[in-house]
Parts: sequence; structure tokens; C-alpha cells
Amino acid sequence: MDHPHPLGLAPIDRHNWQESLAVKVAPEQLPLVAGYEPVALLILAKAYIRPGDLEWEPLALISDGSVVGVVALAHSPTHTEVRHLAIDVSSQGRGLGSMAVELLLGHVSETRPTCQAVQLTVHPANERAQRLYRRHGFVPNGQMRDGEPIWVLDLKPGGPRSGTE
Ligand SMILES: CC(C)(COP(=O)(O)OP(=O)(O)OC[C@H]1O[C@@H](n2cnc3c(N)ncnc32)[C@H](O)[C@@H]1OP(=O)(O)O)[C@@H](O)C(=O)NCCC(=O)NCCS
Repeated sequence: MDHPHPLGLAPIDRHNWQESLAVKVAPEQLPLVAGYEPVALLILAKAYIRPGDLEWEPLALISDGSVVGVVALAHSPTHTEVRHLAIDVSSQGRGLGSMAVELLLGHVSETRPTCQAVQLTVHPANERAQRLYRRHGFVPNGQMRDGEPIWVLDLKPGGPRSGTE
């Protein structure tokens, strides 16, 4: 990327959870990312409930010391799902979503050496998100989950990521 934004990834914890709850998407975007708001509240609930019996990892996206987005990773031993990626509406369209995907893929590669693939779902009407994920090497695998197509990025076990530019 020519002009990378300084963006960091941190666990949602007792220090930043209230700031994370303030992350909001536009009303028409909410059905694309979560059934409830704040998105961070849903993420934190799922980390407790553990849907799919996965290991949920609630994360804040931090730029210039402020939380600008939230996301969850949900891990099995061999796969990681990216769930509920939301950039605050006031910070969208500036490349933060793209940088967040890069950070997430790097984080998975570093912390999950047995992960073989990263998965997510995208609403067919969510053109911005589809463009974002396609650019980072994700492709639809022809399957559906919860009414949305599943997109996958295969990782080479023990080696550099495949499918990236
Ligand atoms: C989807 C989302 C995470 C993207 O984050 P972002 O910071 O707005 O995106 P970026 O600025 O990194 O841009 C990502 C891509 O979308 C494009 N884009 C930016 N604004 C756009 C717009 N208004 N319409 C269409 N495409 C747009 C960018 O050009 C970029 O494409 P490129 O990489 O080919 O140049 C963010 O918009 C968001 O939180 N949306 C609401 C929740 C949501 O839909 N989450 C995804 C669920 S799967």
C-alpha cells in the first residue's frame, strides 16, 4: 500500500471496551455486519457464548490512540473466521478496512500456525466489503452460511500466505 494508515490491533479488554462500544456503522449498514448494535456488544456476547464451539477473539482496531473499529476472529484448530468487521462510520473510506484485513491476516499467521484457511461471509449487496476481500485474495467457495456466501483465503501451512497480491 502506498500510504499506509497507522492502525493497530488490540484485544477488547477492560481498558477499551467502552470505547469499542462507541463504534457505530450507518443504520443501513447494520444488517450487513450484525443483527444488533453496538457491534462490539454482540462480539463480546459471542466470546462468552462461543457459537460454533469456536474460540472467539474480540479485537479493537486502533488508530492514533482511538478505537476506530471492531472485529472478531473465531478460531478452530485448522480454520479462522473473520466476523463482524466494522469500521466506525466516521472513519470509513480511508483505507482502514483494507489495513485491518492485512493486520488480521498477519495476526492469524503469527498466532495460529496450524490455521489452514481464513473464512468469512459477505452479504451479496455489500459491494464495498466484497471488493475489499477480493483484493486481499479471498474468493467465494460456492457454499452459504446464514444466507450469505462464504469467502475463503487458503493459507499455506508453515509458509507465506497464498492468494495475496
Ligand atoms: C466494509 C468496511 C469494513 C470497509 O472498511 P473501509 O475503511 O470503509 O474500507 P477502505 O477504505 O479500506 O476501502 C476498501 C475498498 O472499498 C472501496 N470503497 C471505499 N468506499 C467505498 C464506497 N463508498 N463504495 C464502494 N466502494 C468503496 C475502496 O476503494 C477499497 O477498494 P480498493 O481496495 O479496491 O481500493 C467498512 O466500510 C464497514 O465497516 N462497513 C459497514 C460494516 C460492514 O459491511 N462490514 C463488513 C461485513 S462482511
